Amino acid sequence: MPLVTSTEMFKKAYDGGYAIGAFNVNNMEIVQGITEAAKDLEAPLILQVSKGARAYANHTYLTKLVEAAVIETGLPICLHLDHGDSFETCKSCIDGGFTSVMIDASSKPFAENIEITKKVVEYAHDHGVVVEAELGTLAGIEDDVKVSAEDSSYTRPEEVEEFVSKTGCDSLAIAIGTSHGAYKFKPGTKPQLRFDVLEEVSKRLPGFPIVLHGSSSVPQEFVEKINKFGGNMPGAIGVPEDQLRKAASMSVCKINIDSDLRLAMTASIREYFAEHPDHFDPRQYLKPARAAIKDMVAHKIVDVLGCDHKAF
Ligand code: G3H
Ligand code: 13P
Ligand code: ZN
Repeated sequence: MPLVTSTEMFKKAYDGGYAIGAFNVNNMEIVQGITEAAKDLEAPLILQVSKGARAYANHTYLTKLVEAAVIETGLPICLHLDHGDSFETCKSCIDGGFTSVMIDASSKPFAENIEITKKVVEYAHDHGVVVEAELGTLAGIEDDVKVSAEDSSYTRPEEVEEFVSKTGCDSLAIAIGTSHGAYKFKPGTKPQLRFDVLEEVSKRLPGFPIVLHGSSSVPQEFVEKINKFGGNMPGAIGVPEDQLRKAASMSVCKINIDSDLRLAMTASIREYFAEHPDHFDPRQYLKPARAAIKDMVAHKIVDVLGCDHKAF
C-alpha cells in the first residue's frame, strides 16, 4: 500500500468516535518505535515532519524512512507536514511526496490566514494532497518560536464556517486550551480544555474533522525519571488523557503528540547511561529508547485515541 491521505482515515474516525495519532518523526528510531506499535495494534497512522525535523534530518531521509515503514508495516500511513509556515514550504513537501500538509498562518490576521491557506489548498488539491489549516493561537514553543500564554487565543467559533468555506481546507486545527511543549499548565492548577468551544465549532461544521495540537499529557513518571537521572524539569504539566479521549469521541479526528515521545526517549537514555556509564555504542542506548517510544505510542493508541484495529 502506498502512502495515503488522511481523507478516509478521518471519515472513519469521525463516524467511529475515535482519533488518529499524529506523531512527530525526526530519526529512524522514532519512526520504528511509532510504527512497530501501530503495526501490532493495526492502527492507522499519521507521521508528521516539522520544518525543524526537515532541517535536522533532511527531507529525503525522512521521506524514505516513512516509505520504509509503509513497506514494513503494510499500514495506511499519511505523511504530513507539521506547521508549514509558508506556501513555499508546503509546495516543497507536496512536490516531495507528502500526502498532507499543514499551513499554519494562525498568527496572521483572519483575512491573510484565509488568503495564504487558500493558495496552499489550490496547489495541494491539484496534486492530490490534503490540507490542514489553523484558527486560533496555541501557547508554547514550536520551531523555536515561543508564544506566551497571554498571546495565545481560543478559536472563535463564529469564524470557522467562513474560514473553511473560503479556503477549502480539509481539516481545521483549533485552540481550546492545549499548548505545545512540556510546560502547558501552571503546577497546582487544574487543566481544563474548553469543550464548549469544541462543541460550538462542531455544531457549525457538521462532519468536518477537527485537529488538536499540543496534546501531550506529560506523564509524571517520565519527568520524575529524567529528574532522577540528572535532569531538571520543574513543573512540567500536560493535558489530562481523559480529556483527550473525550475530544477523540467528538469531532476531533487528529491528535498531535510529540513531547511525550521526547520524554519517553530521553528518560530511557538517561536511565541507560546512569546504569551503564561505560557504554558508548549508540545501538545499546537507542534500542531501549525505541522500545520506550513503542510502549508510549501503544498506550496512546489504545487508551487515548481509541484507533486500535481500525487500520483496515
Ligand atoms: O509543534 C511542534 C512539534 O512538537 C515539532 O517540534 O518544531 O521542535 O520539531 P519542532
Ligand atoms: P506536544 O508538544 O504537546 O506534543 O504537541 C505536538 C504538536 O502539536 C505537534 O504539532
Ligand atoms: Zn503543533
